[in-house]
Amino acid sequence: MKLEGIRAAEAQLLLPTYERNPLLFERGEGVHLIDENGDRYLDLLSGIGVNALGYGHAAIEDAIARQSKALIHTSNLFFHEGQAELALRLTERTGMDRVFFSNTGTEAWEAAMKLARAHAGLLRSEGRTIGTKFLALEQSFHGRTYGSVSTTYKAKYREPFGPVVPGVEFVRFNDVEDLRAKFSHEVCAILVESIQGEGGIRPLSKEFFAAAQELARSTGALLVVDEIQAGMGRTGKWCAYQHYGIQPDITTLAKPLAGGIPLGAVLCTEEVSRAIHPGMHGTTFGGGPLACAVAIAVIDTMDREGLLKHVTEVGDYFQDKLRGLAAKHDAIVDVRGKRLRVAAELDSADLGKRTVQEMLKRHILINCTSDTVLRFLPPYILRKEHVDEAIAALDEIFTEHAHGAAVASTARVEGDLRGE
Ligand SMILES: Cc1ncc(COP(=O)(O)O)c(C=O)c1O
Repeated sequence: MKLEGIRAAEAQLLLPTYERNPLLFERGEGVHLIDENGDRYLDLLSGIGVNALGYGHAAIEDAIARQSKALIHTSNLFFHEGQAELALRLTERTGMDRVFFSNTGTEAWEAAMKLARAHAGLLRSEGRTIGTKFLALEQSFHGRTYGSVSTTYKAKYREPFGPVVPGVEFVRFNDVEDLRAKFSHEVCAILVESIQGEGGIRPLSKEFFAAAQELARSTGALLVVDEIQAGMGRTGKWCAYQHYGIQPDITTLAKPLAGGIPLGAVLCTEEVSRAIHPGMHGTTFGGGPLACAVAIAVIDTMDREGLLKHVTEVGDYFQDKLRGLAAKHDAIVDVRGKRLRVAAELDSADLGKRTVQEMLKRHILINCTSDTVLRFLPPYILRKEHVDEAIAALDEIFTEHAHGAAVASTARVEGDLRGE
């Protein structure tokens, strides 16, 4: 078996950053991944929210083939056709004015933080009173580079690498009073995810989002919204903040943006863009011709195939079915999220781990975040019959779990009666 050889070689050669599942995937078709033995797996994770159009979509294959023949890379020293064409599509859909392209989510977030501090510097030069502090949220996740980990809540991501970027304070999630108490003229930006991802698929409350916008506007600070996991259609709108009627000053996109080719973007208002001049920020690869061509194909395909509407329908169906399961099984304590960014919180971390493994045995890929939260981030092309398959598998697992728990409890009672 190839897997064992690869596993042994990786154990010798790679930094031990990942605990991989023992699976070797060789190809994909639609919503399925196919392993080295030809076994098919229903993928409800899509490469952690990346493969929005699934696997082997003709639009992506054609764009890669066409653009790789024409031009893969030129650097940002020259023009190519893709950036402005893609920026037009993104600004129209997000309500933002200008774009900078990066390669990954964390780079987009770094750029967002740099923009916020540069903008505050510009305001200070114009006589305004505004500092350099960031307010981020508890349970947030923004990536692994220094600015991003500095604004990411969990200590395990930050502390081994300290000192991290200074000037970050964390606000209790959805706690408007804590936000008001910590906000001042020292703050240059309030940083949020509209729906926290790694933090357990937790949506911001309307009140909190509105308060953040109001406070930021009161001093010239910026509202910066990370849409790296929630954006680009996953919640049935291009950006999750659009469900709230909020328009941020800066937002970030990545993950599904180019359907599996690395690409990130930071988008901002015209006002914020005043802070940036040639040479202040840049990248070698970001926004290259290949990534842009594929992202354009992804967006055009989403429009052509009506995928926002589809995500809304199938996402609501998924959530209804999960709520049905929760009504039946006590082990599910909450169902939350929006459309195809949905989660079921369980009553124990052990059950979370076991459920992922049991789903794997049934050839369905999901993951568990924040210890107890089963997270589903399927491709947008998911259909209702795939949802039914996943729900039936979960039903079986939780029924077996309840039965196992009942048997264990009877054995305990019998043991007690025997005086053991
Ligand atoms: C909300 C959010 N922001 C930022 C990132 C970082 O993106 P990347 O892994 O592409 O650097 C992630 C990745 O999971 C994320 O979920």
